[in-house]
Amino acid sequence: VRSLSYLAADFTADPWPTYRRLRLESPVWWADDIQMVCTFGYEETRQVLTGADFTVEYPFRISEQVFGRTLLDLDGPEHRRLRNLVTPLFTRSNVERIVTAVVAPAVDELVSRVRGREQFDFMAEFAEQLPVMVACSFVGLARERFAESGQLLGCLLRHLDGSRGDFEQIATLRRRLEAELDQARQRPREAGAFESIQDLNLALTPEESLRMMMLMLAAGVETSVCALGNALSALLRHPTMLRGAFDGRLSLSAVIAEAFRWEPPQHDTVRFARMDTCVAGVPVRQGQAIKAILASGNRDERVYSEPDEFRPGRTGPPALSFGYGAHMCLGRRLAALEVEHLLAVLFAELTALELETQCDPRAKGHTFRRPSSLVLNAHWK
Ligand code: HEM
Repeated sequence: VRSLSYLAADFTADPWPTYRRLRLESPVWWADDIQMVCTFGYEETRQVLTGADFTVEYPFRISEQVFGRTLLDLDGPEHRRLRNLVTPLFTRSNVERIVTAVVAPAVDELVSRVRGREQFDFMAEFAEQLPVMVACSFVGLARERFAESGQLLGCLLRHLDGSRGDFEQIATLRRRLEAELDQARQRPREAGAFESIQDLNLALTPEESLRMMMLMLAAGVETSVCALGNALSALLRHPTMLRGAFDGRLSLSAVIAEAFRWEPPQHDTVRFARMDTCVAGVPVRQGQAIKAILASGNRDERVYSEPDEFRPGRTGPPALSFGYGAHMCLGRRLAALEVEHLLAVLFAELTALELETQCDPRAKGHTFRRPSSLVLNAHWK
């Protein structure tokens, strides 16, 4: 198997030409610096995500060390039992109720803070705020605890992406966030607005409830921050489509679905070989970590025509942005509606918006990628 340096700068600055070159040369590579097998092709990545020879279970997985053992770290009957218990929270009707009860008022609040301002940073004012507000409400935290919990979560998330991990600090931060969540777990809930984890209390042990609440924060916040930034960035980089989205000629939901494929919030995930096996004919030893590069699969020319083109409404198989198979993202409908609702409300209040000329709209980062800022010149109605 051919070898590459995954931490090289060309991966972080603009990974797309590198993904393309590697994909065309071989769909599977060995990354010497991170000691992982990497899959770049759509089919090979899907095989790793769905194959019985691969598992998420590995005691030293960094996400498990940071957030504790969650659905993301379990396979088999235990994973199925827990996933089946929380799946009803993500039905179309419950997600619509979450949008009405939580997303819509949060968006109104954020818009009212910038209304009339000629310039604002979309990342700081919206993308970095809304997902924290939504996730904290969803797990039942009291409003006055959002700031503290959001900050603790932010510190923990920074340990996921490229950090070597200071485990003492991680343990302290996690205990503090768990204490916040434990209070939320025991708080009486206003009945009726939407189904939440607390409504599953009878089916989950207190420890399982806590783990599940932690997962919703861990899985739902940074991914959604990136999703909001990347969707607006895609439109700003395609001004004709931005105008189409403004005047309703272009469906926002199609734009958002394509933005998830074209500039996915989460570029990769990890699996481990359960036994000696093969990926695309390449032998892989038992216990070997495999980086499944979802983002590269999304631009595989064997699967999508002109994959580098941003083309809302395109046909093709589902993008890999939300994973595939048993661990496929439960929150994908909520994430999509959150982005759609915010952009719809913002566009309805504005006649036009442009990116400030000095601002670079391109996504940056390792696993979670997004623009660092999107400074907008806004023209209000
Ligand atoms: C655009 C935003 C989002 C993206 C790109 C995203 C991406 C992903 C991906 C790639 C996975 C699979 C990981 C793997 O197979 O290793 C996943 C799993 C998961 N996501 Fe999301 N996610 C997003 C938003 C959310 C939200 C808002 C929530 C919850 C409110 C959520 C809840 C979950 C859960 C619970 C899992 C674990 C499922 C399992 O292991 O069975 N996600 N997500």
